[in-house]
Amino acid sequence: MDKRVIAGAAILAVLAGCGGKDASSVGAQPHNAKWVRQGQTLYAEHCASCHGAKLEGQADWRRRKPDGRLPAPPHDESGHTWHHPDSLLFAIVKNGVVPPMAPEGYQSDMPAFGGKLSDQQIWAVLSYIESTWPAEVWQARREMERDSGR
Ligand code: HEC
Repeated sequence: MDKRVIAGAAILAVLAGCGGKDASSVGAQPHNAKWVRQGQTLYAEHCASCHGAKLEGQADWRRRKPDGRLPAPPHDESGHTWHHPDSLLFAIVKNGVVPPMAPEGYQSDMPAFGGKLSDQQIWAVLSYIESTWPAEVWQARREMERDSGR
């Protein structure tokens, strides 16, 4: 292969890994201590007011409020966040609970963070959330992923 082609491919690989255009495919990195620390700070600033300082969610989170909207669910092992693949969690945080994640016209209190957080920052927050999940959750998550053929 031509040397320039190899150099070009290397640069593309670096861009893809560093929040280039398609950072949505980067994925959470719960074992990356730097991202987890960064995500913890971002979580406290942007998410804890609704999802709880300890990721515990709002009280009675399964029951709709009088306005018909759902309270903020926990992100710890008691919730259903871990049931979802990374790509879906990323889309919800970036765009809010909008189609295709929810039916057209669905009313939700979950804000879209696309204008506030970069793609990398969104992955850092998800890395923090996932870093708190115990081994049993990871095991169950892997089984769900395998069963759905992902
Ligand atoms: C103003 C309150 C509020 C803030 C702030 C907020 N959320 Fe939410 N979030 C919600 C609500 C309410 C829901 C449930 C939405 C629904 O189903 O209608 C939700 C749902 C979610 C979901 C889907 C949960 C699941 O278990 O399927 C994710 C993921 C999420 N939020 C992540 C975040 C992250 C990360 C942040 C911070 C960057 C954040 N949220 C900030 C209120 C909030």
